[in-house]
Amino acid sequence: MSDLVRLTIEGRPVEAPAGTSVLEAAKLAGVLVPHYCYHPSLPVAGVCRMCLVEVEKSPKLAASCATPVAEGMVVHVESPQAKAARRAVLEFLLINHPLDCPICDQAGECELQDYVYQEGRATTRFADYAKRFNPVEDFGPDILYVPNRCILCTRCVRFMEHLAEHPVLNVSERGDRAYIGIFEGAALDHGWAGNVVDLCPVGSLVSKDFLHKARAWDLDKTPSICPGCTQGCNVTIETRDNQVLRVRPRPNPDLNRHFMCDYGRLGYGWLNRTDRIEAPLVRDGSRLVPVDWDRALGRALDLVRGARGPCVALVSPGASCEALERVAQLVGAGGGAGAFRVAKGDEIPLPGVPDLALRTERAPNVAGALAAGFTRDWDGAAARARSAALVLVLDEPLHGLGAAQAWGPMIYIGTVLPDEARGAAAVVLPSATMAEEDGTFRNIGGRIQPYHQARAAPGMARPAAWILEEILDALGVGVGAQA
Ligand code: FES
Repeated sequence: MSDLVRLTIEGRPVEAPAGTSVLEAAKLAGVLVPHYCYHPSLPVAGVCRMCLVEVEKSPKLAASCATPVAEGMVVHVESPQAKAARRAVLEFLLINHPLDCPICDQAGECELQDYVYQEGRATTRFADYAKRFNPVEDFGPDILYVPNRCILCTRCVRFMEHLAEHPVLNVSERGDRAYIGIFEGAALDHGWAGNVVDLCPVGSLVSKDFLHKARAWDLDKTPSICPGCTQGCNVTIETRDNQVLRVRPRPNPDLNRHFMCDYGRLGYGWLNRTDRIEAPLVRDGSRLVPVDWDRALGRALDLVRGARGPCVALVSPGASCEALERVAQLVGAGGGAGAFRVAKGDEIPLPGVPDLALRTERAPNVAGALAAGFTRDWDGAAARARSAALVLVLDEPLHGLGAAQAWGPMIYIGTVLPDEARGAAAVVLPSATMAEEDGTFRNIGGRIQPYHQARAAPGMARPAAWILEEILDALGVGVGAQA
């Protein structure tokens, strides 16, 4: 291809599109050039000088983040001159950096630690560390700034200015008095501001929510999809001791790049709820009594087989595609149908990224529910439930449906038991949350994305798709969807 440029990096031949930076071309060659201010989703600043490399025939070292590839270029990343320059940068940064790693949330995932270990010197020539600033400043609802740790890479300033288009941060003062300032009366309260914590390569911007909760190396990380809205941002769920402690964005250049909104980031508390249904329940008079899975599924099967007439399904658009497709199959076999409803809120875009927003509909699988054949005619479905031969509820909180006791026989599959289901369900089957199962969601653009189990489900709870497949198998109904 004519627009490919050929060069050599650390002795490895590389081909990169014209305009690519040397730093990105090095990645293609499998060579990591240390860097701080550079970030692939932000405008290049070239302020930290950590990415210096040697380019043959060039009179001085080059900042690889700001130097485009050129035909025939020969780059040395690990030459004595390049390494000496980067060590000098690290020593310069460490003159004023507190060695408070034992109490810093970033320890274990700190790029200053990593690069000093990889490149730097074991000792310093500056014995006395001078604390220059306030220990900590409150920057917003979830963000603290620790200026003494700041290396002034300006990633946070550029994110707020160019991506969030909410320019409240700046570099105040100059020289060794410089720090990240926030304009008077302003706060980091934009709906996407939490990304500055991820962008900070050291522990200078930290999340109040995660403050001192866990050491980075104790966290188990699972690829997942944010369940907060229909956007379907790719995320990592981070757990310790079976508790979800943090949710962070997972890069996807076609969707959310490196970002997620604060609504999704901080909205994981429900995944740790302790009031879960832990055993299958069947109705015995006015009570629901715990039973084993065989008895509960047997009762559910009796209800399905005994249904004379159409069934109605009331489903959550937070359920997986696999579970929704199986519900549709189950109720559709008898000529039934179903509907869903979804909570709504304001749309909050991230202006610097096309088609990226906290969407109005606050559930991850509205498109999956529609694709499975469920409609938005919630009121109609709730009305039909009165005369239905069977009502199948899939993790719907049933708020505002006090008439549930007047419905047909109800099978409730869910994570927690709403009062309406407690009073009306004939069978309750405990299901896993999206953090406790493997599945897929279909996002607003029709993209079907997998998520994975991040923690164990409580008690006897099982993925809803498994529960429904057991029922379909026992009925001898072929299963079209695959989990
Ligand atoms: Fe290149 Fe900072 S990463 S100058």
